[in-house]
Amino acid sequence: MVEKLDHPQQSASARKRHLKAKLAAQPPDGTRSAFREEEKKYLSRNPPPDYRSVIDLSSTDTHPELVAHSLNQESPKDARNFAPSAAHSDLGLSSQEKVYTLVNHPGLLLIPDAIDHVTQRRLIRNCLRNATRRPNLNNLDTHYHLPEEGLWHHFESVRTRRCADVIVRPILHGASTLHITTKHSRSLITDPAITADTSIDVLSAVKPLPVPSTTVKPESASDLLYKLRWTNLGLMYHWDTKSYRFQEVFQNGMDSIIPVPSDLAHLSKLLLDAIPQHLVPHHQDWSSFKPESGIINFYQLKNALMGHVDQSELVEDQPLVSFSFGHSAVFLIGGTTRDERPTALYLRSGDALIMSGSCRRVYHGVPRVVEGTLPSYLSDPQDWDEMEQANASKEDLKDWRIFAEYLSTTRINVNIRQVFPEGYLEQLPSDAACS
Ligand code: OGA
Ligand code: MN
Repeated sequence: MVEKLDHPQQSASARKRHLKAKLAAQPPDGTRSAFREEEKKYLSRNPPPDYRSVIDLSSTDTHPELVAHSLNQESPKDARNFAPSAAHSDLGLSSQEKVYTLVNHPGLLLIPDAIDHVTQRRLIRNCLRNATRRPNLNNLDTHYHLPEEGLWHHFESVRTRRCADVIVRPILHGASTLHITTKHSRSLITDPAITADTSIDVLSAVKPLPVPSTTVKPESASDLLYKLRWTNLGLMYHWDTKSYRFQEVFQNGMDSIIPVPSDLAHLSKLLLDAIPQHLVPHHQDWSSFKPESGIINFYQLKNALMGHVDQSELVEDQPLVSFSFGHSAVFLIGGTTRDERPTALYLRSGDALIMSGSCRRVYHGVPRVVEGTLPSYLSDPQDWDEMEQANASKEDLKDWRIFAEYLSTTRINVNIRQVFPEGYLEQLPSDAACS
């Protein structure tokens, strides 16, 4: 359904030029930063990477960098006055009892297998069904007139034969090549660090909107789904301008923002509740964590997320909570500069990761999604073992094969952030948005 190439010669040479320019921009070996060197190791396709130094929490071998701690024993639901809605009453953590820290990366907490299989499937379902359409904005909205019902709903309807596939038109016409930009736009860009002291003028400055691409071609909606790279939750963050859309919230308050979905918001709070106090950095109060914004990243097997620091949130003393689903990935956690050599660890489906304290604003990235690592409980239900099938409700099983089809090449990461310090919005001057 992809249109034929208009000018194959021109397109091929344009691509060659692009590649040459990219290679020329690379510093010669030896001047690359330590972070980049590690990144390149895991980006390599031929030869494939040597995974032996990747820290593996599912391995029974102990690793000298890893320290295990017990999660809080009392039910996290009891620990706080948390009243889940009926729809989420059974949403919770698995029976995992351990949280791990890394000796050289204080503030990084890892809870392997934090989310049980049934909950993982429900969260994946909700992410794809509810968060991949308006009003949530995604990487494709800038460039395409996406179907009103969203790309996922369309994909599901096509697969259940409720409707035929459609061709999605680019916002700008006159495309002359077939070169489609699908990479993450965050490579080697450093977003400015902001804090609660950053002036309101800077924060509410109107950033130019991202420009629609002139080179994208019409594509079928089901093909385009595989080019979905991220979608936003809660307060909107623009990856292109590297900033939150503060204006609206300054003007109308947090109530004007569509909240982070309650299942993800509750889960991130439950997880923070389960962390023993001695692992919480000094003077931080995680019980007041407010899940105000989030990103869902969708990775196809060839996609990577280059090293970056998440420093566009005004609050530094609240953690970032991240969940992984689908294929496993190699995650690199580094220091405050690219010159510090990062540590590689696997993130698997159901794992949770917390970045806090001195690890809240450090370089990190995902150079590799690991082929052949989709857990069987996320594949087609006919491939589940008997126990998995017995645990699954009718609702859980219904149409899961469509999700399994998408997941067969996909990793999903959800990360949840607090943006504003406690009380920040309340004390803003009432004309803040106009300054
Ligand atoms: C991010 C991020 C990591 C991951 O979205 O900022 O770092 O595990 N994601 O995908
Ligand atoms: Mn990040």
